[in-house]
Amino acid sequence: MKTRRTFLKTACKPIVLAAFGITVIEACSSEETPDNYLSGSQNENDNKAPLEIDLSDGKFSDLKDIGGWMNYTSENLLLVRISDSEIRAFNNSCPHQGTRDKWSFDGSDFECGQHGNTYSNSCGGSLRCYITKLDGTILTINF
Ligand code: FES
Repeated sequence: MKTRRTFLKTACKPIVLAAFGITVIEACSSEETPDNYLSGSQNENDNKAPLEIDLSDGKFSDLKDIGGWMNYTSENLLLVRISDSEIRAFNNSCPHQGTRDKWSFDGSDFECGQHGNTYSNSCGGSLRCYITKLDGTILTINF
């Protein structure tokens, strides 16, 4: 059993205040915000100039085959090859709490490793999707 002093040191502040009859509306989660957190209101890709990617660059080799994907971290993008003529681009910020870079892909859904939520690779889903155009080996992404 905790002593009163231990309880006061370790309990969530709103609970301690409630014990004294003071009501505070605040979450008591001990879950920390991840380092790679991006709030839903922030989007570094908003109003960015179109981005051209030359897919012949070896760092994009994962996009050669249909179903291939990559987390293009320097541009905060998830890229996935849908067909010979289509590559989709998504913001790599998780719609749940903004975590980045904990992605896996099973061929149709992205899974965020932070809490295990999954998101479709369709542009009508929760992941922010950008308009892309593939012309030869040049992929243009419009934000
Ligand atoms: S941040 Fe919770 S599932 Fe991605």
